[in-house]
Amino acid sequence: MRPIVLPLPGNEALAASLEGDLGPLTVRRFPDGETYLRFDSPVRGRCVVLACTLDRPDEKLVRVILASATARDLGADRVLLVAPYVPYLRQDERFHPGECVSARVVADLLSTAADRIVTVDPHLHRLPSLPPAFDVVRSAPLISAWIASHVSNPVLIGPDEESRQWVSEVAGLCGAPYFILRKTRLGDREVRIEFPSDASWTGRTPVLVDDIISTGRTMISTVKHLRKLGTRPPVCIGVHAILADSAYADLQSAGADRIVTCNTIRHPSNGIDVAPSIAERLAALTA
Ligand code: R5P
Repeated sequence: MRPIVLPLPGNEALAASLEGDLGPLTVRRFPDGETYLRFDSPVRGRCVVLACTLDRPDEKLVRVILASATARDLGADRVLLVAPYVPYLRQDERFHPGECVSARVVADLLSTAADRIVTVDPHLHRLPSLPPAFDVVRSAPLISAWIASHVSNPVLIGPDEESRQWVSEVAGLCGAPYFILRKTRLGDREVRIEFPSDASWTGRTPVLVDDIISTGRTMISTVKHLRKLGTRPPVCIGVHAILADSAYADLQSAGADRIVTCNTIRHPSNGIDVAPSIAERLAALTA
């Protein structure tokens, strides 16, 4: 039997791109701010797919937990979660005494809530992997295809050591040179970027590639530095477009020629469509 696909609010387009019978889910807020949630079609014996990307996550996480527990309570055979962006993964270590290592807490929470979670390039750095329930779609082939068809003579730039994993893959796929910068984070909204002395971009267009653009400070510092060096205007590519507050406008003002992101989080910068890859992975899980 085909799965039943249920979008959490704001995820209707994502749900529509997935194979299955679209089902309605009523979600609203009680006057006290708590969530009311109701399944409007039977799920007994069905494979239930919840579609919910998890940027700005605190309210969404509660909805996902309530929806998955209710699906199981109503007799669903399996509950799968399609969450193209998984949050909280950057706090993957106790940097200061007493801190919550939210990466582990949230990864464990989601893998208990759903039988499988399909996501795109989760931020893995000090945490080497996620629990086995996670099924990861890689965006590198799509990003490299975009670069190959939109940028002539690219040179790829990864802003920090953890970006090496995807920048090197993207560079290999599109046959471009790359180098990795050294980043020191000085605070939530402050970073210091250092360029390698042997970096060369003569005749090339710098293409910054990072997994998450949040405050945009990492990319803004890099773009400003490149502009001072007199390079061609850089292209900025992010997998997950959090782009908090004025980050998008700030990055444009800093001198980025073009800002392109994957549509794991809906944003005007979305230009790389990961939906078919997600749908394909989900179809393999529900076959
Ligand atoms: C962290 O290491 C990530 O890979 C990104 O580099 C980071 O999240 C970017 O953050 P922001 O846009 O706030 O500088």
